Amino acid sequence: MQTIKTRIAEKIVEGVKSIRAEAELETEAVVSMLEYPPDPLMGDLAFPCFKLSKTLRTSPVQIASQLCASLTDECIASVESVSGYLNIRLSNEYLSRNVVPEILEKGERYGAQDFGKGKMVVLDYSSPNVAKPFHIGHLGTTVIGHALRKLHEFAGYECYGINYLGDWGTQFGKLIVAYRLWGSREAVEKEGIDKLVELYVRINNEIKGDPENGIPENHELADSARAEFHKLEIGDEENLALWKWFVEISLEEYNKTYRQLGISFDSYKGESFYTDKMPAQVEKLREQGLLKIDDGASIVDLSEYNMPPCLILKRDGSTLYPTRDIAAAVYRKETYHFDKAIYVTSAQQCLHFAQWFKVVEMMGYPWHDELVHVPYGTVSLNGAKLATRTGNVVLLKDLFALAIEKVSGIINEKNPELENRDEVAEAIGVGAIVFYYLTNNRMKDINFVMDEALSFDGNTGPYVQYTYARACSVLSRAEDVSDAPVAVTTEEEAALVKTLCRFGERVCAAIADYEPSYITRFILDIAAAFNRFYHNCPILSATDPAVRASRIKLTIAAKTVLGNAFDLICLRKTEKV
Ligand code: ARG
Repeated sequence: MQTIKTRIAEKIVEGVKSIRAEAELETEAVVSMLEYPPDPLMGDLAFPCFKLSKTLRTSPVQIASQLCASLTDECIASVESVSGYLNIRLSNEYLSRNVVPEILEKGERYGAQDFGKGKMVVLDYSSPNVAKPFHIGHLGTTVIGHALRKLHEFAGYECYGINYLGDWGTQFGKLIVAYRLWGSREAVEKEGIDKLVELYVRINNEIKGDPENGIPENHELADSARAEFHKLEIGDEENLALWKWFVEISLEEYNKTYRQLGISFDSYKGESFYTDKMPAQVEKLREQGLLKIDDGASIVDLSEYNMPPCLILKRDGSTLYPTRDIAAAVYRKETYHFDKAIYVTSAQQCLHFAQWFKVVEMMGYPWHDELVHVPYGTVSLNGAKLATRTGNVVLLKDLFALAIEKVSGIINEKNPELENRDEVAEAIGVGAIVFYYLTNNRMKDINFVMDEALSFDGNTGPYVQYTYARACSVLSRAEDVSDAPVAVTTEEEAALVKTLCRFGERVCAAIADYEPSYITRFILDIAAAFNRFYHNCPILSATDPAVRASRIKLTIAAKTVLGNAFDLICLRKTEKV
């Protein structure tokens, strides 16, 4: 639609100039003023003339009627002027001769943009904390992060995905102590990350105690955890070996989840990697006079910016989360020369990012404004009983496993003959969760209801994947129609093509607002338009061979755009369901 909008905008600019030669109006500005009328009966595009009233020194109604008379283009079927608006209807001819052939010709590249060409983006996402549970709260960073990566790639950016593993910190001291007290090599080898999480949860509970019920806090255990972490920091070989092993085991497990999602990273450089890169930044802060001592700790005062201070060093000289992020950003700029660095985390970390971004600015790094924090709301769970040993946290892998199991059940009932049943169940089960999650704007808090996510009739992942499979099924029975012309005639056909051609515009908007949900909702629009077309316009059973061929082509176009959009949000393309 962007190209159609641009064409029309150019004509409007010409029209405006003919009303008043010295009027200055950019095509871009007109593009952004073009609206989609809420009721398609009013037209496909509307142009409000109110804003031009001042420049043209005449009433919007006058402007609309003057522009109406002069506005002609190959893509326009008719224009009406109604109360200061131009209501524009697109021509079926144009949709048939230009839009559909363009989709078919570009195929997987349809919707792709090139404004990112020659630019580099690093994306920091997923980034679970090793040995702590990889839980449902990480779903957001993982799928939003990956969708943003795909979107940027689609716009021509070179992308570098970083899984900034939380692989350093006092939790390893705790884990080492717990492992020695209650764990064993065999148990960890057998049970993997579950065992680690269990040990971690147990030691935390013991340290906390239960004072209300007369169980005191266990300071000794806390002290020995600190001591073991300190040993790890100064390179104790035994602890170092344990730490490496714990990280490996955790990564193996995460990779299973990433594989299910079809996600991979370019780098797994975690927090530990930046340990030796922090002193230089701390030194720089000190030299620049930005560090203040507050109760023994070193901080950067941000009161001028209405923020609490950014903590750089604790009283004992140890570094903190922001210190590491600053060092990591400097390293990434020097190593990857990014034009943009995106960080996807829960909104609970907004202040953290605002603080250290400001510190980077105060340090005089000219790239401070290339740092982007993309936050998202919280996820809670309703309905599904997923209690684990870890108390009330729900592990991502358990959530996926439950969804896959439920979908398997549905498939066994509905289509027991299906080939590759396990693969399909995984694609749909995981897809259902991803889709459900990405349907809402990212800042919205979500209450996860498994049965809603898995429904085949709602606005869900299974429904759109089923729609994709429906298109594939039609095409598997269709003949070759490469040479046949397309003729959009019915209302349903036109509505489908008009939806498809908005793809590029949705991609641009999703990138501009860091909002993958625009793509998810666009997918629902296509599915609705395609299903309406499918039900009302016979495709393979059309009696006229020309109509039949044209509709087969429309089906190819719908499948292409759906598939391209699926790719952007990690939804697998299911040929058969
Ligand atoms: N590991 C952190 C967590 O789970 C997220 C890290 C986000 N990235 C960053 N550069 N701080 O909360």
